[in-house]
Amino acid sequence: MTYDFDRIINRRGTDAMKWNVGENELPMWVADTDFPTAPAIWEAVKARVEHGIWGYSVLPEAWYDAYVSWWRDRHGLALERDWLLFALGVVPAISSVIRALTDPGDKVVIQSPVYNCFFSAVTDNGRVVWDSPLKYDGCTYSIDFADLEAKLSDPRAKVMLLCNPHNPTGNIWGREELKRIGELCARHGVTVVADEIHCDVTAPGAGYVPFASVSDTCRDISISCIAPTKAFNLAGLKTAAVAVAEPALREKIKAALHADGVAEANAFAADAAVAAFTKCGEWLDQCNAYIGENRRTVEAFLEKELPQVKAVPSKSTYLVWLDCTALKGDKEKLAEYIREKTGLFMNAGRMYGAPDFLRLNVGCPRVYVEDGLNRLKAGVLAWEGEH
Ligand SMILES: Cc1ncc(COP(=O)(O)O)c(C=O)c1O
Repeated sequence: MTYDFDRIINRRGTDAMKWNVGENELPMWVADTDFPTAPAIWEAVKARVEHGIWGYSVLPEAWYDAYVSWWRDRHGLALERDWLLFALGVVPAISSVIRALTDPGDKVVIQSPVYNCFFSAVTDNGRVVWDSPLKYDGCTYSIDFADLEAKLSDPRAKVMLLCNPHNPTGNIWGREELKRIGELCARHGVTVVADEIHCDVTAPGAGYVPFASVSDTCRDISISCIAPTKAFNLAGLKTAAVAVAEPALREKIKAALHADGVAEANAFAADAAVAAFTKCGEWLDQCNAYIGENRRTVEAFLEKELPQVKAVPSKSTYLVWLDCTALKGDKEKLAEYIREKTGLFMNAGRMYGAPDFLRLNVGCPRVYVEDGLNRLKAGVLAWEGEH
């Protein structure tokens, strides 16, 4: 490996949300990584810093070119320049889209367990969460299409939030599943918001299928939210894009992003995205290979040391979805208990709609993973001793 993902960089005292924790705590929760971003992004941002003037910015043509070429070359989507709109983040974009396409009291379809902001983006805007839970067979997740169709056919269901790849399960949806979703949504007049923020974090050889690439229908009824932030660890820079192929829908979304004040880039947002999508493919490949090894480290450890906790198999995201169904007691409290006993801070599954699970972020140097696993084991054994 050319790049060193083992290197520890102290993030304590840097106002990092993830590391705003106690002295002996190990944070493996919120979805950013403990890897410094790719050198070419660092250089691009540094050059902007050194200029010393960070006034209002416009989007350079290079920003459009970077998204178009990355999605064409890496993901096989013929994204067009004019589909692209800037947004200060995927969550603000989702919120704007919900307000633009639904009225208070309308229903927004989600598929739990799912990213917690999918719930809050709906309820904070006075809309109704209309959940079509994924089916879980004890190993993999799949879509309950009969239930999904029933939910989509409700006349008040106007938007579906699709997480592709899926946080927290790490599922990468297949072309056929996406096609079916597209057909059902088209039949019932539901617009799909495809949140594809995790799409670049996939195991070597395991690509994702962009929703808009699946069929003309999928393209025309969807809004894709894409960004370099998860893969290249840039969440604090606030840089994302919303791609909308259908012109009338695009105009609506463009107006909504402007009205909400989330359509203008900060001085670093474009340079970082351009560098990521034009110069950092090799860095990303190595980062993904490292994350894959971290995932295997977790799986091997659990199998041998803690078989009562299972990692749901996945080839995407740096989030490991831990099935704790076999443990006794009220699992709503499990994450809190482990944090208190061992300092390991994970997300409780309840925030995603699955109280029997925990979410472990392995986007970090391996020594943290190893430390985290030992703490997890100690916490679970202590829990078992009390239940
Ligand atoms: C599925 C998903 N969407 C969106 C976000 C956050 O996006 P942003 O930081 O661009 O608002 C996250 C962060 O974890 C996520 O997992």
